[in-house]
Amino acid sequence: MVVLVRVFINGYGNIGRRLASSLVLDKEIQLVGVAKYSIDDKVKEALENRYDVYVPRKMIGNFKEQGYNVTGSIDEAVEQCDLVIDAAKEGMGFDNKKNLYEPNNKPAIFQGGEDRNGERAVADMIHNSRVNFDMAAGKTYVIQGSCNVSGMGRVMQPLIQKFGDRIRRFDIELVRRWADLEDTKVVKDSIEWDRYPHHQDDVRDFIPNANLYVDAFKVPSRMMHLHQMFVRFGDGGAPNKDQILESFSDEFGVAIISSAKGTGDVRKKALELDFLMVILIWSIFTKIS
Ligand SMILES: NC(=O)c1ccc[n+]([C@@H]2O[C@H](COP(=O)([O-])OP(=O)(O)OC[C@H]3O[C@@H](n4cnc5c(N)ncnc54)[C@H](OP(=O)(O)O)[C@@H]3O)[C@@H](O)[C@H]2O)c1
Repeated sequence: MVVLVRVFINGYGNIGRRLASSLVLDKEIQLVGVAKYSIDDKVKEALENRYDVYVPRKMIGNFKEQGYNVTGSIDEAVEQCDLVIDAAKEGMGFDNKKNLYEPNNKPAIFQGGEDRNGERAVADMIHNSRVNFDMAAGKTYVIQGSCNVSGMGRVMQPLIQKFGDRIRRFDIELVRRWADLEDTKVVKDSIEWDRYPHHQDDVRDFIPNANLYVDAFKVPSRMMHLHQMFVRFGDGGAPNKDQILESFSDEFGVAIISSAKGTGDVRKKALELDFLMVILIWSIFTKIS
């Protein structure tokens, strides 16, 4: 008999909604429900999706007055579950951990925007299923790297395993979308750069020896992120195209596509292939002396 893991998703924004839609399909998981903090259309959507909705205790009456048949309070849901997935806006996970998860002795997975270091660190590791899955087993608190950080790990690790000694450095130009497709946030007509993108430190958390440099730009688009990755090789030279493609032939979650005009095409292909995330990479392989 399969023992179901009872999971509660604390936060029903873009991340929480995507998680809920995949967790309900997982036969080893029982979705306890999702948390809502604001009274808006997303409550209706969650109820229509037949999720149990939990809200702050003092707001139960307010939700019910608006006609939303919520199941109970967030602290009750935390008590009932075996594991919390915290999908709050970044920075809120720390308070949730202190006020809810620690007092109830509940393990939690935090989304990739939370701090890994410093006073408001929520966990002592960033998980990447391709690199450090075993290390996460038995941990009480873990950060799941953000989509960009997870993608970088999934692409870098097979290359490191195959060509490790020959790789001198990775440089990544990261072009970030302004908002998600389903986000109501206004997309500003501006290209912004990030002087200290967190991505390279996050990747070094699970690939400590990576000689990696990331530049990040946010652009007025809702259609996916794009990474341009340069891999430089030293002694032993650069592998050829077939050897590179071969490195990804058995990789779960990495798709190789022969052509695309832009991120719109990549998204279309991702939907066809049933991928949640595709990162399009142009790789330039050189030998440096
Ligand atoms: N979106 C992405 O693709 C993406 C990618 C990488 C990383 N991330 C990280 O994930 C975080 C969440 O992203 P998102 O796009 O899902 O944001 P979002 O759509 O703004 O959702 C955040 C959710 O947090 C809920 N919330 C409010 N107070 C809370 C609390 N105390 N505890 C738990 N949840 C609470 C809000 O609920 P109400 O709506 O009910 O007020 C809201 O739905 C981001 O801040 C970012 O660091 C996101």
